[in-house]
Amino acid sequence: MEIMFEPLTAQNVDQARLLNAVLFPGLYQPRFYSEVSKSIGQVYDGFLVKQGSSTIGGIICRSDRDNGSCRLYIVTLGVLAPYRREGLGRQLLKRIEELASNHSALSLYLHVNIGNDEAVSFYTNSLFQIKERIPNYYRRTNPPDAFLLQKDLM
Ligand SMILES: CC(C)(COP(=O)(O)OP(=O)(O)OC[C@H]1O[C@@H](n2cnc3c(N)ncnc32)[C@H](O)[C@@H]1OP(=O)(O)O)[C@@H](O)C(=O)NCCC(=O)NCCS
Repeated sequence: MEIMFEPLTAQNVDQARLLNAVLFPGLYQPRFYSEVSKSIGQVYDGFLVKQGSSTIGGIICRSDRDNGSCRLYIVTLGVLAPYRREGLGRQLLKRIEELASNHSALSLYLHVNIGNDEAVSFYTNSLFQIKERIPNYYRRTNPPDAFLLQKDLM
């Protein structure tokens, strides 16, 4: 079945919530999605990967603006396990990089658990750099440390 990429909207944000409940159990509460839903296109943006009516992947990012400059923070990015290593994560990232270019964003950045080897390989192979290791960033995961990863765009 054909794979399609759909922009995140207030109408499909619930599909992102259900997807992320599988990918990141217990990490994002309903109030996060109501905040996203209220500010899509202003603060939050994203895409879903659809195969027919099933949502198999997605990305949500937030624009951080400071003194006229903009950086995009990747809040969630994930693809369901059976669909990994088919280039879908890379395509989601590409769409966010296009958005970043439209916003003249200086960089993309995110936090990732230091034990998440798949994600660290994914981002470093997509030219993100490990900028910092932040001790005890996560309260409920073991190990609790995060890497701050960043890709400069300008
Ligand atoms: C990280 C993640 C989004 C990657 O998605 P994906 O669709 O499998 O990634 P792609 O197929 O586009 O991979 C692109 C490149 O990243 C690297 N990569 C991806 N997964 C990898 C893995 N498990 N091991 C090593 N390298 C990997 C490879 O270089 C790959 O290119 P290649 O397949 O041509 O070698 C996916 O593993 C995932 O959803 N993980 C769970 C959620 C998560 O931890 N998200 C990150 C925190 S927000």
